[in-house]
Amino acid sequence: MTDPQGTASRRAAMRLLDAVLRKGLPLEAALDVAARDLERADDRGFAHAMAAEALRRLPDLDALIDSATKKRLPEDAKARFALRIALVQALAIGTPAHAAIATVLPLVEGGPKRLVHGVFGALMRQKAGLPEVPTLPSRVGDRWERNWGAGVAEAAARLLAVPPPLDLCFPPGAAPQMEGVSLMPGHLRLPSRTAVAGLTGYGEGRWWVQDVAASIPARLLGAGQGRTALDLCAAPGGKTMQLAAAGFAVTAVDASESRLARLGENLARTGLSAEVVAADVMAWEPPAPADAILLDAPCSATGIFRRHPEVLHRVRERAIRELAEGQSAMLARAAGWLKPGGTLVYSVCSLEPEEGEEVVERFLDARSDFRAVPVAPGELPEAVPGRSGFVRTLPGLWLEEGGADGFFIARFART
Ligand SMILES: C[S@@+](CC[C@H](N)C(=O)[O-])C[C@H]1O[C@@H](n2cnc3c(N)ncnc32)[C@H](O)[C@@H]1O
Repeated sequence: MTDPQGTASRRAAMRLLDAVLRKGLPLEAALDVAARDLERADDRGFAHAMAAEALRRLPDLDALIDSATKKRLPEDAKARFALRIALVQALAIGTPAHAAIATVLPLVEGGPKRLVHGVFGALMRQKAGLPEVPTLPSRVGDRWERNWGAGVAEAAARLLAVPPPLDLCFPPGAAPQMEGVSLMPGHLRLPSRTAVAGLTGYGEGRWWVQDVAASIPARLLGAGQGRTALDLCAAPGGKTMQLAAAGFAVTAVDASESRLARLGENLARTGLSAEVVAADVMAWEPPAPADAILLDAPCSATGIFRRHPEVLHRVRERAIRELAEGQSAMLARAAGWLKPGGTLVYSVCSLEPEEGEEVVERFLDARSDFRAVPVAPGELPEAVPGRSGFVRTLPGLWLEEGGADGFFIARFART
């Protein structure tokens, strides 16, 4: 049997789905192994796009598959994986149906080929389609509805249906000359699918890509002239660049050498500078206390579900609890490195209160020498909720403008 052109990228997409759904890996981390047979960057990109779109649409794809099979296929059945990849191509990516199935059937050779062909064919004859607004996995939808209300869960599902816009961040007073929407000073939003490489000013380092919500933590540390800042868990460096551009003398610390390499490239491209330290924050000590600290702690990343749809499937409640323990320990350690009178910002790109509100409430209970510093009037746009001293960006924020990532951000002063 010949291998129809394009089967290798479908095989890589199936391996990616398997890595996320059965092994609990992040998509990016699985890509090298899953796409090892693909030499061309665009084939790897296509494999990634198919897997990511299948993860955005998984409950709806599975409902279609179940509607067309008499006996329910197990979650991990090879036929289900193959059908997810064939259907997502035909129903979401725009691959013609005959090509979608012809490229997937060789992947089930000697196995459930007839079943896959039969189910796919039946769904195509019925003119099956996917709903305009994707269905969130029930565990996630229920949790977000319980924590934030039905409107937020609905907004999250709506955001999942469209690729996020491209947000640019730039130093004060250096706005790029491009058509776009500015939601805050130092921010410009361009339409989804804008290609970064073709935009003026990228090579010259006049701006960098950073979601508008991700730019809030560094903003809350204010101007940096004459002040030192520790950027803890800094790579790939979006917030390091903001702090350096605001005038801080920045020390950027991260445990990942590969992510720090990207931070180094980002600094070199933008001409901004920071002292870069490869270290585990739980083992490292700064040489001196700092005026400002930004701790962008490792988290479930459920707030960036649009760009990383695997978090909808791989992050379980137990992992959230374990991450929260690590975040509390990191925050307690970082707090010891702040000068009296200094400012500490804690942030996570998570939509789970266990990693946000609950971590900082415990911290404030334990540290009477720290107090929350609420967002001052005019400091952030009115739309950004800054009640009770904390900032919480939820999926409904700027929905009509293309949304924003989910973040929790708290600012403290050491008295
Ligand atoms: C949310 S990301 C940081 C994003 C970054 N602040 C930015 O704006 O580009 C979390 C980072 O924490 C780092 N990390 C995780 N555990 C760490 C530890 N124990 N010590 C230092 N860095 C750690 C990871 O390598 C990852 O780069």
